Amino acid sequence: MSNYHIKSLEEYFNVYRRSIRNPETFWAEVAEEHFLWRKKWDKVLEWDFKEPKIEWFKGAKLNITENCIDRHLVTKADQPAILFEPNNPDEDSIAISYRQLHERVCKMANVLKSKGIQKGDRVVIYMPMIPELAVSLLACARIGAVHSVVFAGFSSSALAARINDCEAKAVMTSDGSFRGAKTIAIKAIVDEALKNCTTVETVLVVNRTGEDVQMQVGRDHWLEPLLDEADSHCDAEIMDAEDPLFILYTSGSTGKPKGMLHTTAGYMVYTAYTFKNVFQYQDEDVYWCTADIGWITGHSYIVYGPLANGATTVMFEGVPSYPDFSRFWEIIEKHKVNQFYTAPTAIRALAKENLDYVTGSDLSSLKVLGTVGEPINEEAWHWYNDHIGDKKSPIVDTWWQTETGGIMISPIPFITPTKPTYATLPLPGIQPVLMDENGNEIFGNQVDGRLCIQFPWPSIARSIWGNHQRYAETYFSAFPGMYFTGDGALRDEVGYYRITGRVDDVIIVSGHNLGTAPIEDAINEHNAVAESAIVGYPHDIKGNALYGYVILKETGENRDRDNLKKEINQVITEHIGPIAKLDKIQFTAGLPKTRSGKIMRRILRKIASNETENLGDISTLLNPEIVDEIIKGKI
Ligand code: PRX
Repeated sequence: MSNYHIKSLEEYFNVYRRSIRNPETFWAEVAEEHFLWRKKWDKVLEWDFKEPKIEWFKGAKLNITENCIDRHLVTKADQPAILFEPNNPDEDSIAISYRQLHERVCKMANVLKSKGIQKGDRVVIYMPMIPELAVSLLACARIGAVHSVVFAGFSSSALAARINDCEAKAVMTSDGSFRGAKTIAIKAIVDEALKNCTTVETVLVVNRTGEDVQMQVGRDHWLEPLLDEADSHCDAEIMDAEDPLFILYTSGSTGKPKGMLHTTAGYMVYTAYTFKNVFQYQDEDVYWCTADIGWITGHSYIVYGPLANGATTVMFEGVPSYPDFSRFWEIIEKHKVNQFYTAPTAIRALAKENLDYVTGSDLSSLKVLGTVGEPINEEAWHWYNDHIGDKKSPIVDTWWQTETGGIMISPIPFITPTKPTYATLPLPGIQPVLMDENGNEIFGNQVDGRLCIQFPWPSIARSIWGNHQRYAETYFSAFPGMYFTGDGALRDEVGYYRITGRVDDVIIVSGHNLGTAPIEDAINEHNAVAESAIVGYPHDIKGNALYGYVILKETGENRDRDNLKKEINQVITEHIGPIAKLDKIQFTAGLPKTRSGKIMRRILRKIASNETENLGDISTLLNPEIVDEIIKGKI
């Protein structure tokens, strides 16, 4: 028996021990008992972190959509698979049963096929949170096409960069999107992006807002008439366990975004297993994750993990503040949500508002609360626990990454005693270790270090699309023989983990990963800017906000500073998207640099965070005198 569903702390410890002692047996049992295989694997695991190479369930044949949809048709055909809650509360919500989902996915898959999309082709999906988004992912998976969802808040040039990197053959999008009181012209952003892309032959467009859009003859097609005509049967493409399922871009600390490549079988097994345990999902529960499917959280815990378990998963199109701050809580009451999974930044924003927004809704259906994406501070944890969970719904603080595919460290609700701000214990199969800067493992408790994982788990990303070398360098070179997460963590007296934040040049703003380098590159595109450096500083709601130090060219020195600040944020919006805008911009004559010319971000970070008493040793700087000047000019 695989202990697919852990039911007590004792069982957790037993399962954990077994999963570490013999991971292959453990995962083979889980895979065998709970999934549909067209052919079983020849070998459970083959790996070498030195190359690096990781292969799970090699030789197995399957299709993930048969696991997420077809097999539930026997017992759950009429159960809602997706409950769609529109942006506007006056618009009806839509329940899509497993039977309907099957039909919609098959039709969409046939439309893709009719446009010449085949196994292995890349399809970029740039869509708001509407049912067609989930259907599009699954339709790609049905025919073996590799989806790459780009969050619909990214700018046209960020979209173009991703389309070009994966050489997408098709783009799936909508005319526009509704977000709160705003309507955004999504198709126009795609049009702009495609001016700089040569690989895209087909653009499929969902009619959502009724916006006027331009359709390029031969390339662009409205989806609705094609779906109406499409056959509602589509055989699932039989995939190898290690065939690519999707590419999802995440920011790196340097250069262009990394297209993390996830493959089929291991990803399916791990996301399904962790969904079941971390949310203690029971049949007929209603589960809601507020993330966008444009991020890994949405892939793993709106679409694949829940559907693989035959769950009912809520998809919300809107924002927590529209029409007012009670929207989340009203949706929980309306759909009698049992498990609710959101980000600390949303909790902090909602906790600032009047409590009447919460108390107006009946939240008694809630059983489990989750958080993800960034550290949750103690105050937000308690507010969530007291006012949303009524002190009886355990909070699962889930630590994981785009690269890990699924939740790695998290309490199991009702089983692992929770501790505010702690992600607590590793899930079965996960072997965290803490390392010091010299590459030595830090043993024992009440210690902190760099968080690494020393053995592969089924859903680890297998590569960076088109750049395996970068994958090797980013994740496996800092601590040879281990996967390096880029995070710092501490381990308390009982072995609980607390994630303390990034130790590299990635800054997490409102739960979004932002690399400093791409933002600096964008700013440097402004014709008045000579050089720039971005750091994060603590922010009440966003967790971190961005502080930019900017050196102007001579030609820029006479320009109005307020206008320049606006223009700089405009350039960032154009190159990346509004999520990367700077909260503060300080113009400076220089930046602190080492003798080798590297910007000392540590110093800039401390200045931005008002920690100027303790700057450490600055004597090794090439230009120590600049430090005082920057402190004087601090905003
Ligand atoms: O720094 C950690 C933080 O988010 C990073 C991963 O970001 P991303 O790939 O966008 O995936 C986010 C959703 C899984 C991590 O390296 N992070 C994520 N969850 C937590 C967290 N930091 C603290 N506590 C968490 N629960």
